[in-house]
Amino acid sequence: MAKFPCNNIEERDGDLYFAGQSVEKLAKQYGTPLYLMDEDRIRHNCRVYTEAFAKHFVKGSRPYFASKACCFKAIYPIIESEDMGADVVSLGELLTAKAAHFPMERVCFHGNSKTDEDITIALDLAVGCIVVDNAEELYVIDREAKKRGIKQKILLRLTPGIDPHTYAAVATGLVDSKFGSAIETGQAEELTKVALTLPHIDLHGFHCHVGSQVFAEDVFERAAVVMLTFCAEMQKKTGFVTREVDLGGGYGVRYVESDPSVDIASRIGEVAAVIHKTCKELGIAEPIIGMEPGRSIVADAGMTVYTVQTVKKIPGYKNYVAMDGGMADNPRFALYGSKYTCLPVKNLDKPLPFIAALVGRCCESGDMIQPDIAFPEGIKRGDLVATCTTGAYNFSMSSNYNRLYRPAVVMLKDGASRIVVRRQTAEDLLSLDE
Ligand code: LLP
Repeated sequence: MAKFPCNNIEERDGDLYFAGQSVEKLAKQYGTPLYLMDEDRIRHNCRVYTEAFAKHFVKGSRPYFASKACCFKAIYPIIESEDMGADVVSLGELLTAKAAHFPMERVCFHGNSKTDEDITIALDLAVGCIVVDNAEELYVIDREAKKRGIKQKILLRLTPGIDPHTYAAVATGLVDSKFGSAIETGQAEELTKVALTLPHIDLHGFHCHVGSQVFAEDVFERAAVVMLTFCAEMQKKTGFVTREVDLGGGYGVRYVESDPSVDIASRIGEVAAVIHKTCKELGIAEPIIGMEPGRSIVADAGMTVYTVQTVKKIPGYKNYVAMDGGMADNPRFALYGSKYTCLPVKNLDKPLPFIAALVGRCCESGDMIQPDIAFPEGIKRGDLVATCTTGAYNFSMSSNYNRLYRPAVVMLKDGASRIVVRRQTAEDLLSLDE
């Protein structure tokens, strides 16, 4: 019997169900490859953060959904009604949120290499906060804010020098990083002093993001202590009282049964306890706390469904099940060696003795979703397979490599389904070509 990483996945008479709906039926209705999203799960995940924030942090504290994890218009009304903010990192994300009428004052604009165009459009749209990465950007914001006769609220992005013990590509809080200014080298202090001299900059506080897919027990606690200690030091040296500290992305998620499952609500409680204690010890007022969860909001709200095309058995070597998607809709195994739970959509109650690599249709050997998946005996062309926990960094990292069409995204709620992103066509692809 197959094991599921999340309780919105079930088996009913051998068939796979997601968010209470038959995966086979959805695949028949919408075609494959297909991204499915479970709206209730997104809402549930938002509430875990918003409720913990309301319980533990000072008024005004808020979690921001990290749009980079999953960005299309239909996600924003959900995020808005769950009372979250949105973190965006590009004009593409910002204008998607805008097109979905997301309140701009609840947007936090990120990026380590913002262009003048990014900054002017962000100011014209009146985004609530800009997380400033570097001095160059700070001067442009001050100049553009002056032209508009405003003071722009900002946070300064700092690197607290903390190793989050995740994979290298997503570890960002170390001193040696392309992001932010290091506390250790004195650059964070320098930038703070510059920010305080600029008349059109309204410095609210500081931001850090130590990494993604974080499980290590005390990473946020250690980051909070380093950040708050820096706040106290700045207060002593400059008189600046920090109003806000943002601790960056959220907790890790469970992709396979052997991954730990994090009790986010109680972990936030533990971080809050450290924040209360540290502020007291340092003699500073407790700032508003922000966090920017992406993966833990949408990952387990997603599933990708494929149709098997080829089953290849190479005696003495390996078996391959090739399907109609792959690294173009999910590059995470190719990029990071990420683990996934992959399941047949039928015969889940039968033994699964046929072990094969689940591979895609792109023209390279690295195009794999997972190297060793258990399938039912006799799996064949036309059968359906699903990858679980694909709601984060799949659609948003999908590409048109090999000129494949991006799959549709279908949102599931209360037994109903609706297309929120339609499947790409050749016409869509050719529409940019002259
Ligand atoms: N805030 C900032 C400033 C970030 O850089 C990130 C993620 C987040 C928030 C959201 O972190 P989360 O809650 O999702 O862990 N493509 C990689 C993940 C890259 C994450 C980059 N930054 C992957 O597929 O694993």
